[in-house]
Amino acid sequence: MSTPTWSMPATSPHAAILGLGVDRAKRVVPNADLVAAIDSSDEWIQQRTGIKERRWLGPGETLESLALAASQRAIASSGIEAAQIDAIVVATCTHTLQTPALAAKLAHLLGTQAPAAFDISAACAGFCHAVGLASDMVRSGTSRYVLVVGAEALSRVTSKTDRGTAFIFGDGAGAVVVGPSEVPGIGPVVWGSDGEQFDAIRQTVDWVEAHENQDPELPYIAMDGPAVFRWASYEMAKIAQATLDRTGIRADQLDLFVPHQANMRIIDAMARAMKLPEHVRIARDIATQGNTSAASIPLALARMYDEGTAKSGDLALLIAFGAGLSYAAQVVRVP
Ligand code: UT7
Repeated sequence: MSTPTWSMPATSPHAAILGLGVDRAKRVVPNADLVAAIDSSDEWIQQRTGIKERRWLGPGETLESLALAASQRAIASSGIEAAQIDAIVVATCTHTLQTPALAAKLAHLLGTQAPAAFDISAACAGFCHAVGLASDMVRSGTSRYVLVVGAEALSRVTSKTDRGTAFIFGDGAGAVVVGPSEVPGIGPVVWGSDGEQFDAIRQTVDWVEAHENQDPELPYIAMDGPAVFRWASYEMAKIAQATLDRTGIRADQLDLFVPHQANMRIIDAMARAMKLPEHVRIARDIATQGNTSAASIPLALARMYDEGTAKSGDLALLIAFGAGLSYAAQVVRVP
């Protein structure tokens, strides 16, 4: 008896980012509004993080509304129709409904034609994980157009009295459409994790435990800030270099460096350790947006277009890191 076989979809030689869209939460929250509850100061927050203000959900805004607006803009800028999207991957750690995935709701709201729709959990590293996945899905022929969304409403899971995190996080969403390309637009992903530091950034208690304990306040995201700071500052520069080596690109060939917006001092430490040449423009969105976890890289890239420091076709190194601890990085040509 012959062994059954089957045919596989046609592959695409390369994948690229075709369009970008973002949505920033509307409420501007300056440091001055937060310092009393945590015995801090505007000066301390700016010096230690580079953050002057952050964006939090305003009236009528939700995680879903941010993700939807960013997705609609990404689709419009990519030149395809929503109906052509055959997969949606949402990276988020603040969709507080355990199931179903936010991606499935988005698929419906966007008017797509029943695409694959799922969320991934890789915290602040989620966007680069999802771009890596989308690139492989397109190149393998599994999907033709993948909508990748990084969306967070961290203000809802931040304790306003936790001295280690109350001032860090912000809300927003960024999305890209990944599709087939004749030339390489997304380089190989370099990703990994350090599960030994599983507790370094985590939800204080799980939802069931909180319910059983009859906790008066919701669980929130807590962090061993100095441990994460050391790990990110030293280890992530090595991952960035490994990504360039794996792609076959030198630092002086880059136009843009778009790291996760966790802390301005981490961004500077990475750029120094990588000996980035002066001409490489560095994303610094955190100053007015805060750390938006999985949304931070597309939001930071969008600001670079707005300020005229990024243009279509620029070569960018993306690198993201966070809870897990997890990380992912790739070189991309920006749309
Ligand atoms: O997005 C996911 C990844 N996340 C990150 O990458 C975050 C990484 N970590 C950080 O960004 C930093 O660790 C923080 C910004 C969270 C904290 O900054 P730090 O420089 O690591 O502060 P620290 O916790 O080491 O504290 C230094 C000093 C201490 O005082 P003494 O002992 O030197 O007198 C703290 O008591 O600052 C004091 N301190 C504060 N002072 C005013 C700690 N928190 C505060 C505060 N306001 N909120």
